This record gives sequence, C-alpha cells and structure tokens, in this order.
Amino acid sequence: MKPVEIAKEIYDVGVNDWNIRDFHGYSTHMGTSYNAFLIIDEKITLIDTVKKDFADQLIDNISQVVDPKKIDYVISNHTEMDHSGSLARVMHRIGEDKPLFCSKMGEKNLSRHFHKKWNYRPVKSGEELNIGSRTLTFLETRMLHWPDSMFTYLKEDKILFSSDAFGQHYAGHEKFDDVIGDAIMPHARKYFANILLLYAPLILKLVEKVTELGLEFNMICPDHGILWRKDPAKIIGAYVEWSKQENTEKKAVIVYDTMWHSTERMAEAIVSGLSEEGINVRPMKLREWHRSDIMTEVMDAKAVIVGSPTLNNGLFPTVSDFLTYMKGLKPQNKIGTAFGSYGWSGESAKLIHKELEAMKFEMPDQGLRLQYVPDKEGLEQCAELGRKIGKAING
Ligand code: FEO
Repeated sequence: MKPVEIAKEIYDVGVNDWNIRDFHGYSTHMGTSYNAFLIIDEKITLIDTVKKDFADQLIDNISQVVDPKKIDYVISNHTEMDHSGSLARVMHRIGEDKPLFCSKMGEKNLSRHFHKKWNYRPVKSGEELNIGSRTLTFLETRMLHWPDSMFTYLKEDKILFSSDAFGQHYAGHEKFDDVIGDAIMPHARKYFANILLLYAPLILKLVEKVTELGLEFNMICPDHGILWRKDPAKIIGAYVEWSKQENTEKKAVIVYDTMWHSTERMAEAIVSGLSEEGINVRPMKLREWHRSDIMTEVMDAKAVIVGSPTLNNGLFPTVSDFLTYMKGLKPQNKIGTAFGSYGWSGESAKLIHKELEAMKFEMPDQGLRLQYVPDKEGLEQCAELGRKIGKAING
C-alpha cells in the first residue's frame, strides 16, 4: 500500500494486513488495515503508527513523502499495539527526543508497554497544538475503548482522526466511503457489535458532546478500514442507532451447539414456532459460525435463545465460550430463553437461564430440557416455546 494523499499535504501512510483472519478472537474475513496519518506543515506530524510486524512498511511509506527524520511531532491517539507497535522503531528513526503527544493515561500505558523515557507531552481534552498553518485539538474519549483513547481534530481541514472509533476490519484497495459505497456498512456494524457495544452509553454521551461543541467534519479518519469523506454523518448516525439498542426489528437468534443432533432438532422446532409468529429467526450453530459473526446478528435481535446439550454436568464448551463473550459485550433490551437435550443429569438449560438472567435479559420462560432424542410431543413443546418467545417479541 502506497501513501495516499487524503487531503492537501495530509497522507495516510498506513498499511493493509490482507491475511489476518483472527484479530484476538474476532474473525477478520477481509483482513484489516492499520491507518496512520502524516501531516506536512511547519511541524511535520505523525498520528499513530501500525502493528509492529509492519514497521518497515510504515517507515517506507513515510519515506516516500518525507525523510522520517524530519518528523517533528508524534501523536498517539491510542496505545493498543495495533497502533503503537511500531512506535519504538519510529522514535528510534526520527529521534528519541521528539515530542510525543498522548493522553495522560496514554503516557502511563506507553511507558508500561515500551519502558522508554520518551519526551511525553500529555494533553487534555480541548488542548490545542499549533503545527504551523494548522491547529490540532485533542478530545479525550476515555474508555472508547481503552482508558487512554483520544481523538485528534484538525480544525482548518475539519478532519477528525478518530482512532478505533468508526473503523472497520477491512483491507481493500478502496480508501474512501464513496469508492466502496454501502458494501462497507456490514463491516462497520460487525466492528461495532464486537468492539464497542459495551460502551454504547458512552458513545451516546460523546455524540452529544461533539454536537454541543459544534464540530463539523469534512472527513472522519479511523485507524482501521476506509475513511469517511462523502458522508461522515452516515457513520455517526449508524453509531447512534446501534448504541440505542432499541431492537425494533422482530428478530430472534438461536445460538446453539449439539452433540447427537437432539439439541439441533429442538432448535429447528423452536424456529418453526417463532416463524409461525412472523419472527425473522436465524439459527446459528456455534461450531459453524464464528462468535463474532453471531454477535453481529445478536446486536439488533430482540430475542436470543441459547441451546446446549449437557456435557459432564455442565455446558458444551462452545456455548460457555459464547456466553462469556456475549456477557462481556453487555447487550441491552433483550428477551432470552434456554433449551437443551440431556442424557442423565440435565443441567444445561438451567445454567444458560442463570447466565442470561445475569445479563438482565427478560426471561418469559424457565427454559426447556428434553431427555435424549426428542419425540413428537417434545418437539411440540419446543415449537410452543418458540411461539411464546415470538409473542413476547410481538409485545
Ligand atoms: Fe485498533 Fe484498540 O486498537
């Protein structure tokens, strides 16, 4: 990937990671990119770096625009290593004494990652940095999604460098929203569901604050994926909608795993019951679907129905994995129920019920367990459970 001039004298010098398929537990079917931005002004400024493995490419990209030694300032919007991994290499190349701007928490985090006494310049929300003909304003976005996270806003060009926010795990030749079009939205949605959902209340507050500040955006430049220049309001609108979690669509997701197809047959019968009530239902077997793709469907579903066989007095491992994952992302405003087949002890449905209750799901039923292979009557019980959840969704 060559540097791209995204606005006059402002370059994306980042890289595409075409082949990454697992981003610490998130499936990245289309790879990702680590965007980093170089502003050429009286003080040449680099915003963020890239994952360590791509440090050479970053330096090479910068060199195509300017001698890296001429960089005056470095800004670290976020210390997670996909954006800070190349920092040691960059600082070594440009001069270890060059000012490094980050949030106060950023300084702590970088010190604990790199153990270097760099020339840290911790900044606060609202602080400005003049780089010649341009002014950068910092906006702390604590816990979106790390304690150190911040945005950098370029006043004159009205460009927001938004770190992880508004990103997508997508590597492509397209650099902008107007080039790729709506095909990028499913990637943005998956990214939100798996990285930002638990911070939804903070996102709504942040959007409110940005509106109060009256900031205007010609461009929003996240650190992953394409840049929003045609319609930055579109991704902000989508974030507001996703954060509200109103779950207005009549949709249910059945998340399950199965050993000898009994729990699967129960899932199929629950699907018919939900369908009878006009619910858009999607059964997702855990060993066929990645947890991050399931979570994307869960995000706007009104009901999440979870099924597991009982294995060794507990849950099937993939079901435990998914429940742990979903719990961490704190989905709101959901209806839930549990089901599962068992041989002799039969704890699974009860265990799932307890977990969903702990996630504050509305639980209209105690859940259903059936011994060994479900018969006609058992399957009718499953269909009835589907109809009951369907009615709860229909309100
Ligand atoms: Fe893309 Fe939180 O790192």
